[in-house]
Amino acid sequence: MPQTVRGVVARAKGAPVGVETVVIPDPGPGEVVVDVAACGVCHTDLHYREGGINDEFPFLLGHEAAGTVESVGDAVTAVQPGDYVVLNWRAVCGQCRACLRGRPWSCFNTHNAAQKMTLEDGTELSPALGIGAFADKTLVAAGQCTKVDPTAAAAAVGLLGCGVMAGLGAAINTGNVGRGDSVAVIGCGGVGSAAIAGARLAGAGTIIAVDVDPQKLQWATGLGATATVDARDSDPVEAIQVLTGGFGADVVIDAVGRPETWKQAFYARDLAGTVVLVGVPTPDMRLEMPFLDFFSRGGSLKSSWYGDCLPSRDIPMLVDLYQQGRLDLDAFVTERIGIDDVEGAFDKMHAGGVLRSVVEL
Ligand SMILES: NC(=O)c1ccc[n+]([C@@H]2O[C@H](COP(=O)([O-])OP(=O)(O)OC[C@H]3O[C@@H](n4cnc5c(N)ncnc54)[C@H](O)[C@@H]3O)[C@@H](O)[C@H]2O)c1
Ligand SMILES: [Zn+2]
Ligand SMILES: [Zn+2]
Repeated sequence: MPQTVRGVVARAKGAPVGVETVVIPDPGPGEVVVDVAACGVCHTDLHYREGGINDEFPFLLGHEAAGTVESVGDAVTAVQPGDYVVLNWRAVCGQCRACLRGRPWSCFNTHNAAQKMTLEDGTELSPALGIGAFADKTLVAAGQCTKVDPTAAAAAVGLLGCGVMAGLGAAINTGNVGRGDSVAVIGCGGVGSAAIAGARLAGAGTIIAVDVDPQKLQWATGLGATATVDARDSDPVEAIQVLTGGFGADVVIDAVGRPETWKQAFYARDLAGTVVLVGVPTPDMRLEMPFLDFFSRGGSLKSSWYGDCLPSRDIPMLVDLYQQGRLDLDAFVTERIGIDDVEGAFDKMHAGGVLRSVVEL
């Protein structure tokens, strides 16, 4: 029997989101219904609401979540009812060219539920990143569920479902930060601060946090930054050069995703250094720069989707590090809110003062 639950829906570009009744079908072949325990509010949810991702409204928002498997459809073997899982948006297919070449983090054919969740009048919902977890329950593909230690706190480990994984992976996987490297991170929200934590885990020497919000810089220090730059009163490129002996950093991560911050990242790296773009630009943005600079500085310019993570490999490993006290995921949870408070959490994202608001369900 399909069930009705509460869910946070964005109906139109720029319009405030609201809690509506959502119809969840019984899981079909390869599908799973998950009883959501907690779901973080990511900037990407706001991008969806603002029409910055695509215009397939209405969206069921929310995508960094943990919960318990309630029921499974036919042919689901990897998880069973009662399993405690973190949801992911990279359920790899195992069949595409990338998967067959042993690079499943670049899978071209990731799986989502085949059936649609709907509004009560039958209108189909587009779940954010194929998840839609600002809801009491959600329907996903079985591969979107990664089983983890059931004693790990949902508000903390759910964040590995998107932003925190994206940041950790931008440093560890995409940036390939190594012991002794110098790293700078521009934009220290949930994603950027996770990149700082990732740089520390990877053994970076100098870790520079850049933001326009002093509170974010303070949190970044707690997560591993060895120096901070307030971009309101100093030029980040010069400041990063000074803090790295005049060279620039080995790896610079842009966790804002604007042309001006990407240019700062480009010029703040050492010769042959690496730039990692993890912040998401909007379709109207353009980059104009001297072409010769791309050639003459060498190195590599990368973008990082979901931290180039492989959920089955990385999520349980990071939950272990959390349980061992080596990765402070609790530090990302600034506030716990109800399902009615997502719009307020978007406002706080602009006002600053929050690393992650987490909806508890
Ligand atoms: N690539 C991926 O897989 C992936 C995954 C999740 C999120 N994202 C994207 O990452 C970005 C960050 O997400 P978030 O949830 O951390 O957002 P957030 O709003 O919490 O953080 C953004 C931070 O950037 C800072 N900032 C803004 N302008 C700045 C500037 N000019 N210089 C320095 N700092 C500046 C803000 O003060 C804030 O601390 C978003 O674009 C989001 O869509 C990407
Ligand atoms: Zn694949
Ligand atoms: Zn996200």
